[in-house]
Amino acid sequence: MTMGYREIYERYRQNILAGVIKPGDKLPSIRVLAEELHVARKTVEAAYAVLVGEGYLVSRGAKGTLVNPDLVIPSPRPDMAPDSEDATLNQFLDLRDAPGAMRLGIPALDAFPTKKWLLLAGKAARSLRPNDMTNPPVMGYTPLREAIASYVNISRGLNCTADQVFITSGYRSNLMLILHALGMKSDKVVFEDPGYFFGQRLLKRFATQLHYAPVDRQGIDVDYLLRHHPDARFAIVTPSHHSPLAVTLSLPRKHQLLEWAAGNQSWIVEDDYDGEFHYTRKVLPALKSLDTQDRVIYIGTFSKTVMPAIRIGYIIMPRAAIPRFREIGEIMEAGQPLLTQKILAAFLSEGHFYKHLKKMRTLYSQRRAMLLEALHTVYPGVFEVELSEGGMHIVAFLRTRTQDEELAAIWRRHQLQVSALSGWYCLSNKRYGLVMSYTNIVSTQQAIDLISGPHAETLALLS
Ligand SMILES: Cc1ncc(COP(=O)(O)O)c(C=O)c1O
Repeated sequence: MTMGYREIYERYRQNILAGVIKPGDKLPSIRVLAEELHVARKTVEAAYAVLVGEGYLVSRGAKGTLVNPDLVIPSPRPDMAPDSEDATLNQFLDLRDAPGAMRLGIPALDAFPTKKWLLLAGKAARSLRPNDMTNPPVMGYTPLREAIASYVNISRGLNCTADQVFITSGYRSNLMLILHALGMKSDKVVFEDPGYFFGQRLLKRFATQLHYAPVDRQGIDVDYLLRHHPDARFAIVTPSHHSPLAVTLSLPRKHQLLEWAAGNQSWIVEDDYDGEFHYTRKVLPALKSLDTQDRVIYIGTFSKTVMPAIRIGYIIMPRAAIPRFREIGEIMEAGQPLLTQKILAAFLSEGHFYKHLKKMRTLYSQRRAMLLEALHTVYPGVFEVELSEGGMHIVAFLRTRTQDEELAAIWRRHQLQVSALSGWYCLSNKRYGLVMSYTNIVSTQQAIDLISGPHAETLALLS
């Protein structure tokens, strides 16, 4: 049955009211739309005429038909609004999306080997054959899975094979796949406190029994976990550099955690998001490298080592769990873009990745020193930094005060995308300070200029 004028009218009206088509937007000509929808021109004419009559559209002669530029669209009903619009949520969404300096989690964009990347991208695009244009493999492009296995084995001390690598679009898909492949909705999940905000947010929605274990200078308090949540099915941890405190999980606690998981048949999810960037020792092996019982699910990302926009992460699956991941993967995933995987596979297997990491390790430790010096110069006595062994950000603790939310808001008004530490906590024992990235600082002077912007307001707030 062909479409009547009423249906065309309704489609336009609804799209205008929903804000999909905006005041001032141009509509297709009657002829073009009639052809597109396989209807007679007079059907489209009738729909447009009603919409003009009701004031949704205006006809501008030769210019065509537009959505009435003076139309005021009512805001959506309250029940369509997001669940929570609190300041903490906004600070994290700003951190991810708002422009500005010192943005967390963004690697040194000035030092990325763009020319090399473009060369590889051209080569990968030219190599695409019809066969590559069908569906990408759900668990990932084989040469990339091989390159990742070889990288994590050599650099992170793992002992896996390519068939244990599941390539995903990053942290969120990693967690969702793991929870669905190995758990049930009612399983108890323990997360670090403070902990990665986007992880908390996802787990609050998808894990019905979410609990927290505090983190101190030696990482997650495993005694606390054993005392309060020995029955947890999952512990999700950042052992190399805790997010956000950047502390490293101590060796005794690593063994304690592994022993608990083995004894209880629980899973440890090791989020090694920036484990590559360790400055005091050459390599800091991953927790997974100590895991003789295959209870650790290792997850990694190329957001820190290559660029966040690449949207490629991966899971190293426990061998026995591969069939479960395959089954769930076939349901939840459709594979990642093949072209991106081809470029990345070449970047790794031709050695550029290792070279880049080596360069970044030196650069980041220099840039961290620049920011520390700037803080010391501009804010003597205000902040206290407990220097960790690595990572891509520092936490500047407030020595005596607790107004980190207000302080972060001031700094953000000066285009400094720092984050209030207290917002990363769920338990009551909070610490206060600013979490700030140094990866894109280019000189001590630049850092001084940047952080001097909010100087007067900072001192006024903390006086
Ligand atoms: C703690 C933590 N885990 C994982 C990630 C990686 O997330 P994705 O792979 O989705 O970019 C980040 C990125 O900021 C992070 O901070």
